[in-house]
Amino acid sequence: MAIDQAKLDRFLERFVADLGAVLAAPNVVLGDRLGLYKALAAIGPAAGGYVTYDPTADRYLLGEEQAFALADETSPAFVAGAFQLATSTIIDEPKVAEAFRTGEGVGWDQHHPGLFEGTERFFRPGYVANLVDSWIPSLDGVQAKLDAGARVADVGCGHGASTILMAAAWPRSSFAGFDYHRPSIERARKAAADAGVSDRCTFDVAAARDYPGEGYDLVAVFDALHDMGDPVGAAAHVRRSLAADGTFLLVEPAAGERVEDNLNPVGRIFYSASTLICVPNALSQGGPALGSQVPEARLRELLAEAGFGSVRRAAETPFNRVLEARP
Ligand SMILES: C[S@@+](CC[C@H](N)C(=O)[O-])C[C@H]1O[C@@H](n2cnc3c(N)ncnc32)[C@H](O)[C@@H]1O
Repeated sequence: MAIDQAKLDRFLERFVADLGAVLAAPNVVLGDRLGLYKALAAIGPAAGGYVTYDPTADRYLLGEEQAFALADETSPAFVAGAFQLATSTIIDEPKVAEAFRTGEGVGWDQHHPGLFEGTERFFRPGYVANLVDSWIPSLDGVQAKLDAGARVADVGCGHGASTILMAAAWPRSSFAGFDYHRPSIERARKAAADAGVSDRCTFDVAAARDYPGEGYDLVAVFDALHDMGDPVGAAAHVRRSLAADGTFLLVEPAAGERVEDNLNPVGRIFYSASTLICVPNALSQGGPALGSQVPEARLRELLAEAGFGSVRRAAETPFNRVLEARP
């Protein structure tokens, strides 16, 4: 199969615009329902472009790049899961609107199940593309520890996509996934069994502030710290649970230092998700709500408050920032 990178890039630009449009829909409903907005900018057309029409044959075709992005679950450019996430937010919009009124928030566990599966299927391609080959090697000395046999915790692991990828890559190490959401943990256990890594990869229900174990060589939090109601408390617990020379791998959505730096197609997706998912979850846990676009300066402040001595940006992608924090 020959992938034309330029065609794939054009397709992914389209995906970003469309996902932004879908996620904008429940935000528009929210603004309308709550009377927050009198008017909102029109959303561009989101149909077409996902299949190619051949007028001479009167047939609809899935091109190589479209199939790579839509039909191949193992592809690093697989995008269909993102829309599953997006449509779940439309179903949940009335709950979020009510939470705006009460201020009580909406917990991850209170969402439509499409969010859990959609999140896993949206994020896994990014982990397939980057985690084992780029993010772990970007950390100081971690790959060698994993090769030799290390203890790892993945906190807020959801369905365990990241945990299972690492467990498959480093058979001498042990991996403990934690999440406060029981159905996600049950799903992660099944996925680990299906992937044949259950001997070295366990999943348990636990909150970030008090998951068990200590002396971990690596603790990772993938796209979850900003969702938590006590991010400083969670990071402080990570610090306590690490070995003296351990590493905290913090993966957060890509964001600039100022709001105006995030007013672009990717920031549009993250701000919408923040309003519908991340902020309501943090509020349901008592807040403060960081939102999904946390400036790096704020993350560094938070990590210092939690007791980390050094913080370094180790890697980045168009969707993620990868920070390495050391005690
Ligand atoms: C956006 S999802 C990311 C899931 C997973 N890390 C991934 O990358 O696919 C955020 C996760 O954080 C979990 N979470 C939220 N608050 C939590 C808390 N206080 N303690 C532990 N997990 C929490 C949610 O249940 C959810 O699975």
